[in-house]
Amino acid sequence: MRSVAVVLALIFAVASAWSIDYTGYTVQRCSTNSEDKRDLLYGITNAFGIDVLGEFIDSVDLLVEPKRFDLFQGLKCKVIVEDVQKKIDDEEVTLQASRLEFLQNKNDSDAYHKTYHTYDEIIAKVNSIAAQYPSVARVSSYGSSLEGRDLIVIRIKGTTTTTKKTIYLNSGIHAREWVGPATAVYIIQNLAEKYGKDAEVTRLLDAIEFVITPESNPDGYSFTWSDDRMWRKNRNNNQGNRCKGVDLNRNFDVYWGTGSSNNPCAEDYHGTAAASEPEVKAMQNLVTGLANKIGAIDIHSYGQYIMRPYGWTNALHPDEAIIRQLGNQIVADISDVNGATYSSIRSAELYPVSGASDDWFTVKLNLWGFCFELRDRGLYGFRLPEAQILPTGQEIFRAILTYADFVLANFNKD
Ligand code: ARG
Ligand code: ZN
Repeated sequence: MRSVAVVLALIFAVASAWSIDYTGYTVQRCSTNSEDKRDLLYGITNAFGIDVLGEFIDSVDLLVEPKRFDLFQGLKCKVIVEDVQKKIDDEEVTLQASRLEFLQNKNDSDAYHKTYHTYDEIIAKVNSIAAQYPSVARVSSYGSSLEGRDLIVIRIKGTTTTTKKTIYLNSGIHAREWVGPATAVYIIQNLAEKYGKDAEVTRLLDAIEFVITPESNPDGYSFTWSDDRMWRKNRNNNQGNRCKGVDLNRNFDVYWGTGSSNNPCAEDYHGTAAASEPEVKAMQNLVTGLANKIGAIDIHSYGQYIMRPYGWTNALHPDEAIIRQLGNQIVADISDVNGATYSSIRSAELYPVSGASDDWFTVKLNLWGFCFELRDRGLYGFRLPEAQILPTGQEIFRAILTYADFVLANFNKD
């Protein structure tokens, strides 16, 4: 009986989902392998408000609606998804199946990591990890989103009395990048449960407090579950403009407004002022207030990149030699876990932008602010199959430990 009720509830949930229809939309991969082509393509995406889904060293993935197909004729773009809505619908079927599995095995943490979760489920999971490991983990709120959702932070550290350094991790700033928050929860769980059991985790947690915000754009994330699977921004109503949302990763107080859009309809709309958005303001306050900071990472998808500073300029960071070594080490260690290939690059090598969190960590806090772009390289994009959540979690958990080991040994502000 119980499972019949669950199935009916799920069918109802499916029927009411996705009020935005992507029928006929394609994903096109366009080469940007010359300076001219790159300028031309970014010129088109800016002028026509075309959504850049993924960026690579010499190509971009664009979400193109049928009325814009003409623009790309002759540019030799390759259609990599024929019908975006069909793909979303197919994914919805596997999502419901994997969620049913989870709902029937709520206490099995393996089942948890084999599907995606609503904002409420993420909060419940993070709270339950803290309740299970009260001597190492503590959850609190660091503010609320525009629509009034709680912004939560979990702090994880060892039980020794030594003063801890601090590393900050964030994910979820872009709503549709679902594997980010899923990975953050995996990291939270593994840090908490491996303390006192795994030698490396124990040593790190006795030296470092990890401060983690697993879902820093809860309004946008909730909207990807209820209305629009491809939503990226927050849900600011932009003073009644017909286009909603601010790109939180263009809203940080670092060179704000110099490499981003002032058009509310654009996917990279930077808002009305630096840190105009409550989600960004709250994060800046939280992170500014942390003591003894030695590192910070913002987690995104997709593309499989480990990105080091800078992101707003192609100029080299004064510590380029050592941070390149750090990036390369992370990439090598990731590949040892499950064989996945990530690339170590400077953030700006994809496309320089302003107001991003990684640059804010680097420039305003004087850290080696990194940005990770998780799986994949565009085959599934933002809706990575459930079977890849665990392997992604495993390799990025390794990446975080490598980053922590490295900054603990080598980062010195003075
Ligand atoms: N895909 C991310 C974004 O568009 C990458 C940001 C990397 N950071 C940077 N400062 N370029 O926000
Ligand atoms: Zn992103």
